[in-house]
Amino acid sequence: MMGGLDQTSKLEAARAYEARVGSCIGGEGRPAYHLSPYVGWMNDPNGFSCYKGQYHLFYQYHPYSTVWGPMHWGHAVSEDLLHWAFLPCALAPDASFDEAGCFSGSAIELDDGRQLLLYTGVRHEGVTQEGLPVSRQAQCVAIGDGVDYEKAAGNPLIHDSVLPAGWMRQNFRDPKIWREEDGSYRCVVGAAAEDGDGCVLLFSSEDALSWKYVGEVTRNGHRFGMMWECPDLFELDGKEVLLVSPLKMLTAEYERLGGCALYCIGTLGEDGHTFVEETLHAIDYGIDFYAPQTTLTPDGRRVMIAWMQNWDTTRLLLPDRRWFGQMTVPRELRVRDGRLFQWPVREIEDLRGTQVAYQDVTVDDRTELEGIEGRCADIVVRVRPATEASLGSFTVNVAEGQDCRTTLTLDLETGRLCLDRRYSGARRMVVHTCACDVTPTEGYFDLRILLDRFSIEVFAGGGEQAMSMVIPTELAATGISFDAKGKVVMDIEKYALDTDR
Ligand code: FRU
Repeated sequence: MMGGLDQTSKLEAARAYEARVGSCIGGEGRPAYHLSPYVGWMNDPNGFSCYKGQYHLFYQYHPYSTVWGPMHWGHAVSEDLLHWAFLPCALAPDASFDEAGCFSGSAIELDDGRQLLLYTGVRHEGVTQEGLPVSRQAQCVAIGDGVDYEKAAGNPLIHDSVLPAGWMRQNFRDPKIWREEDGSYRCVVGAAAEDGDGCVLLFSSEDALSWKYVGEVTRNGHRFGMMWECPDLFELDGKEVLLVSPLKMLTAEYERLGGCALYCIGTLGEDGHTFVEETLHAIDYGIDFYAPQTTLTPDGRRVMIAWMQNWDTTRLLLPDRRWFGQMTVPRELRVRDGRLFQWPVREIEDLRGTQVAYQDVTVDDRTELEGIEGRCADIVVRVRPATEASLGSFTVNVAEGQDCRTTLTLDLETGRLCLDRRYSGARRMVVHTCACDVTPTEGYFDLRILLDRFSIEVFAGGGEQAMSMVIPTELAATGISFDAKGKVVMDIEKYALDTDR
């Protein structure tokens, strides 16, 4: 194992900073049930796993500021995926093989009970003609007891020299590890060919330390962006599912707003690792959803969590806080009819407090309902046109105040569902609207809306579509109202969500 003064001092510095500055951030100024960083900047979820009876979630972390910087791994644990307790910073970029950053990766429990972290170490190797550092990426291991980790001797353990000739040494990252039934290990890693084409590579190992290159799982073929970041590959409901986060994706209607994460459903070919793609869609049609990672719960559920943010709109929230970035609500996944369905983990139902419900409410004008309000809420809405002739549109306004609101509008004729934060208090010229198409079941459109202090997540069609969005709205804006063009009939249940439960 690697020791060394630098390793100790950088990690200790981060932990000391956390204790000094992070401990001053109160709960009120944070999301109530979405994980945010202890202090500073957060991006991708890392090492999402269950270890010794607790869920562990690490994250890309720069404790010292609210902008991206040399990457550390932040660390939190939870019993129910919703109440998170922070543990000290797990990794700092303090070794020769990760001096420029400990990038994304994953975690697994070893047979001897220790926890292994597999992550991308970024290092610099010389400078370009323009004097810019040349970065190199390779996969590294750290092993620990769930709190403290030691970096393995011999890192990087998946060296960039395994890449086929011509591939980009600076784009080889984000290993996702799992175990096969025979106890051996596999991981997928994102890579890019010399022309920038994204690719997912597979490696195998008997002991999670010594790795062999197996082959390509799939290639982008220049269809969706460039490099495919943060791959995740798993079996679900008799299919193989591949999640990827393409960089620099061309905007193409609402499936791809210039950037988002995609899922591919298919099978594996005869060689056992080539992905045979059947369908491919955006995972989430909102604006803020990137780098998802999944884990299997002890009771067999495949649960996904993602960074509830996108790289291009990180300046939307004004920099008056000591933290930046948050995760989505963890979501249970299923595959049905060639689509990936997602639904908030069932544990959230234990957070449900006071219920306010109304049935058969006719909405044909602005409507407010007593008891329907609040910023931390789980809202279930079913809506249908009052008559066949009254097809029009239905709107839910949330986080509504004097001058602000975020609107969710459903066109009952076309099934187009739009989420719009233009008037959410935003003071930045960035994308504010997104959309997807939903279909009614037995004449009803169903919507589930999760509100937290700085976000809204919408699940439609039983989870066939999801939309996640960060909002910068002042916390005093707690109004919820409804409106319609035409006449609709609505059933609604609203629960206050209370993390003290
Ligand atoms: C995705 C990503 C990863 C990388 C990490 C760096 O958001 O770019 O590919 O490992 O963030 O923080």
